[in-house]
Amino acid sequence: MTPSAAQLEATLSDPGRRWVILTGAGASAASGIPTYRDRAGKWLGSEPIKHQDFIHNPHHRQRYWARSMLGWPGVRDAQPNRLHKALAAFETTGRVGLLITQNVDRLHQQAGSQQVVDLHGRLDRVRCLDCGAGYEREDIQQRLLAKNPQHPRITGVVRPDGDAEIPQSAIERLAVVDCDACGGMLMPDVVFFGGSVPKARVAQCEQAIQNADGVLVVGSSLQVFSGFRFARQAKQLGKSLIIVNEGITRADDLADLKIEQQAIAHLTEVLETISPPRSRTPAQG
Ligand code: APR
Ligand code: ZN
Repeated sequence: MTPSAAQLEATLSDPGRRWVILTGAGASAASGIPTYRDRAGKWLGSEPIKHQDFIHNPHHRQRYWARSMLGWPGVRDAQPNRLHKALAAFETTGRVGLLITQNVDRLHQQAGSQQVVDLHGRLDRVRCLDCGAGYEREDIQQRLLAKNPQHPRITGVVRPDGDAEIPQSAIERLAVVDCDACGGMLMPDVVFFGGSVPKARVAQCEQAIQNADGVLVVGSSLQVFSGFRFARQAKQLGKSLIIVNEGITRADDLADLKIEQQAIAHLTEVLETISPPRSRTPAQG
C-alpha cells in the first residue's frame, strides 16, 4: 500500500471522526457512466444545455429530449460499483454524517447509502414547471418512444447527464411530451448549468459539514462552484479535507491529503478494510 493510501486508511479508520463525503462523476466511471471532464479538468463532449435555454427556447428543449431519449437508458441501466457499495458499508460504521453527490444517477442510493443529498437532482425524476406534478423518467421515456417511433441511433458517447450525440435531423423530428395533468412544460429534476441548487439543500450540506470532522472528496474535479464551495467551507472551518480523485481538482491547494494514482481503487480497498462489504459477488463492480 502506498504511504498516502496508508495515511488514508489511518485517517478514515479513526472511529471517533465523522466525515461528509462529496462525490462526483469519477465515482460512477466504473459503472460505465463517463465523466464530464478528463484528468486535466478539460470538458469532454458537446456544450451542456443551460437552464435558461431550456426554459425559454423550444428548440433547445427539443434538442434536450431527443438526446436524452437515447441517453437515458445508459444511466437507467447502470449498476452501483464496488466504490458505491464500499461507501454504503462505510456509512454503517457511523463515520459518515452525510453523502453529498453531484451525480444524478442515484447509484449511491441503489448501493444502500441512506444519508444522501442529490446536490444536482436526479435524472430518474421529471417535474412539471407549471403545476409541479412529478413523474418517473421512465414513464416519460415510454411516452417519448411511443410518440417518436423513428428512433435515431446514437452517434457518440453517452454522457453522465444522459445526453447523447444524435443527428440534427433526428432532433428536428422529435415531438416532446407535456404534463398529463395540465399540459405544462416538463423538465428533468436536475440542476442544469446556470440553474441554482435549492437553498435548503445547500444549507443541509453546510450544516452537515459544520457537524463533521472533515470532508472527503471522491471522484470530482470540483470545477463547478456548487461542489467546490464545500471543500472551501471545510478549510474555512479548520476541518480536514481529503481529496481522492484521478485528476487535478480546483481545491488541490486546500487539501490536507490528495490521492491521484489509482485513487478510486485505493479508496475502495481502504473502505472495504474498514467496513467489510455486506455482500458482493465477483461479477459486481
Ligand atoms: N475513474 C475515476 N476517475 C476518473 C475517471 C475514471 N475512469 N476518468 C476521469 N476521472 C476523474 C477526472 O479526472 C475528473 O477529475 O473524475 C473526475 C470527474 O470530474 P468531473 O467530470 O468534472 O465531474 P464532477 O466533478 O462530478 O462535475 C461536477 O459539473 O458538469 C457539472 O453538473 C455537472 O455534476 C457535474 C459537476
Ligand atoms: Zn403540469
